[in-house]
Amino acid sequence: MSDPRGVAQAVILVGGQGTRMRPLTDTMPKPMLPLLGLPFVERQVQHLARAGVRRIVFSCGYRPREIEEYFGDGSSRGLEMGYVVDPEPLGTAGAIANAESLLDGDGDVFVLNGDILTDLDLGALVAHHLALGAEATIALTPVEDPSAFGLVRTDPDGRVTEFVEKPGADELIPGEPYRINAGTYVLAPSARAAIPHGEQVSIERDTFPLLAARGGVGALGSGCYWRDIGTPQSYLDAHLDVLAGRVGFITPPGASWVADDAHVDPSAVIGDGASVGPGARVGAGATVGRCVIAGGARVGDGATVDGAVLGRDVVVGPGAQVTGLVVAGDGATVPDGMVLEGPATVATGSVASA
Ligand code: GTP
Repeated sequence: MSDPRGVAQAVILVGGQGTRMRPLTDTMPKPMLPLLGLPFVERQVQHLARAGVRRIVFSCGYRPREIEEYFGDGSSRGLEMGYVVDPEPLGTAGAIANAESLLDGDGDVFVLNGDILTDLDLGALVAHHLALGAEATIALTPVEDPSAFGLVRTDPDGRVTEFVEKPGADELIPGEPYRINAGTYVLAPSARAAIPHGEQVSIERDTFPLLAARGGVGALGSGCYWRDIGTPQSYLDAHLDVLAGRVGFITPPGASWVADDAHVDPSAVIGDGASVGPGARVGAGATVGRCVIAGGARVGDGATVDGAVLGRDVVVGPGAQVTGLVVAGDGATVPDGMVLEGPATVATGSVASA
């Protein structure tokens, strides 16, 4: 990785409600959902620390306590960590403004959406930012179909010329690379000063267009790994990607992962792409395929789970068959012998009904 030349502080946006991840986010903020035994946001912290970041401010809103209790003041990781909590949802830019009091006001800062898994070269992003003398620099990622995203257009020097939110077919230029905002930025003090305090402001819709109009926004594309883990399918896919070794900075534990203190009966089959969390139990003759099983969950004797995301302490009864994208909140139960095909959701603490 290139030298990040002095960007030693970061804000991670972790305040969203994670509505698309319900019911998993009923009981835990999305950035704290585990990815192979570690909270997702811990992976981001590791990535930042490797790039030379020493101070991280978590910009919280929904369920802030879980995050602060887990990381504390950061000293056990050799980092400084601080927390701000939106008094009300402030939007992505308002939340950055709210974090300013804990930042070195003279320095540039990395800003990360707390739901992006990427092995982006942060040093290269900073180098581009400095070479352009930009106020803000956005990491871009390629997509095949930009219609659900915000398309970012640049000039040949890598300076943003246009943002097109959810472009229709008539707004696309044949042959152009479709690149979208990857949720990772470098912001100079002047960019942060452009955000009004105490108001709901979106960095994507309000701040970046304002700064781009004065030529202040750079953007850098790359072919790095990138995934927004904001939906259950994408969260499951992130596990599969890590297990397949596609995420540069995470060494896969193997084709599947079973936590050290999980108990898997010797007659059970754990397939490639399975993640079985701490304290989970998989019974005799059970089959576990590509799925995420959180800590404390139980898969009964002879049951099958494949394609599902099961929260903490979920119970799948003996002989049950759970296939496809079944998302079960913490403490949910799939009764003995039930056949449950996704897509389906089982609410937190409830019993699935056929
Ligand atoms: P959905 O409700 O499913 O759209 O998820 P979300 O609430 O996480 O929203 P989204 O995925 O658009 O947010 C992107 C990132 O910004 C996530 O890491 C959120 O935690 C964070 N975020 C979004 N809105 C706010 C906000 O108002 N305040 C703070 N502090 N963070 C926010």
